[in-house]
Amino acid sequence: MPAVEIKPDMYWVGVNDRTTDLFEGLWPISREGVSYNSFVIKDEKTAIIDLAKAMKTDDFFGQIADITSLRDIDYCVINHVEPDHTGVLRILKEMAPDMTIVCTEKAAGLLEAYYGVHDNMKIVGDGDTLSLGKRTLQFFSTPFVHWPETMMTFEPSDGVLFSCDGFGGYGALQGTIFDDECQDQAFYERESLRYFVNIVAKFRVSVRKAIQKLADVDVRMIAPSHGLIWRAHPERIIELYQEWCDYPGTPGDLAVTLIYGSMYGNTERFMNAVAQGIAGEGLDVEIFDAARTHSSYMLPYLWTRRGVVVGAPTYEGALFPPVWEVIREARIKGVKNRQLAMFGSYGWTGGALRDLVKIVEPVKWNLVDSLEIKGGANSESIAQAAAFGRRFAVTLKEG
Ligand code: FEO
Repeated sequence: MPAVEIKPDMYWVGVNDRTTDLFEGLWPISREGVSYNSFVIKDEKTAIIDLAKAMKTDDFFGQIADITSLRDIDYCVINHVEPDHTGVLRILKEMAPDMTIVCTEKAAGLLEAYYGVHDNMKIVGDGDTLSLGKRTLQFFSTPFVHWPETMMTFEPSDGVLFSCDGFGGYGALQGTIFDDECQDQAFYERESLRYFVNIVAKFRVSVRKAIQKLADVDVRMIAPSHGLIWRAHPERIIELYQEWCDYPGTPGDLAVTLIYGSMYGNTERFMNAVAQGIAGEGLDVEIFDAARTHSSYMLPYLWTRRGVVVGAPTYEGALFPPVWEVIREARIKGVKNRQLAMFGSYGWTGGALRDLVKIVEPVKWNLVDSLEIKGGANSESIAQAAAFGRRFAVTLKEG
């Protein structure tokens, strides 16, 4: 994708990644892709802000070379050291040997650790500025959005905030980089939520602090390092991030996430009846087979929805492992204060429910109902399951 001028003499360059299967080697993006956005500002001094993962380097450096000679880059601002934004740093240093790296003190330590880079560094702190000539860059320390060294860079004359991971999202760019030219903003908002819950939700308190810190800053464009550039409505992605940060302290949306696993189809039969009961009471229920769905896709629903129904057989005296995995992951991410119901079948002994309660106790999920059925499904147990689903939906609506 060719470079795009986002403001006079200010350019998007970057890598549109449609080939990586797993972001961070963990989160699936093979269908959605991701972008590593980088920005070049030409002035009396030339600066590049954040880089890209070490892939498609010919394309990346080709984009920059169309704007400026690589040797003429004076400053490389590193907002965040994670290698999806710094993977090409060593190559760039070879090509621009006089370039000064601008970063926080913590970032300098990490650059040494990751790349052995330690010369030509300019350490900046919160509120420091750097003149490029006509433009000045201002730096805001925003630790733990997403690592401890992270900062954001602001260009006041055009109000552009280079926010790196903050306000970012999955989703390769589809022909445009701007929110107002995008025909499917819902895709990016959905993928921003998935990215938020997968990558930065653990650090939501820091994200909230960063949003508060920027509240009085005249931000007119949000240019994150992943996903869309928000030039028409920068407030939209700030509001979404704020809302997502706040979910653990709220009851959540009045809807249900149903996560189940089934060995021989009995729990699945109950699941269909439970879902009918919930839907029959007018509540939306999103159903996931935990053994066949990556937690990346389930976590956003767990993050935002009030009700969680877990359907799982007992397996070796404990919760069915794929279900255990996603619930544990939700706990780690900080999904809190959910209303919970659990159903499932067992052969000779239970244990799944006991195990589930143990996992969610520290994050205050409230078990409101349970239904453990011995053996296979029959018309009586199916009716019990449907009634269980209805009861849970009614409890949620009344709560
Ligand atoms: Fe996009 Fe935390 O790196």
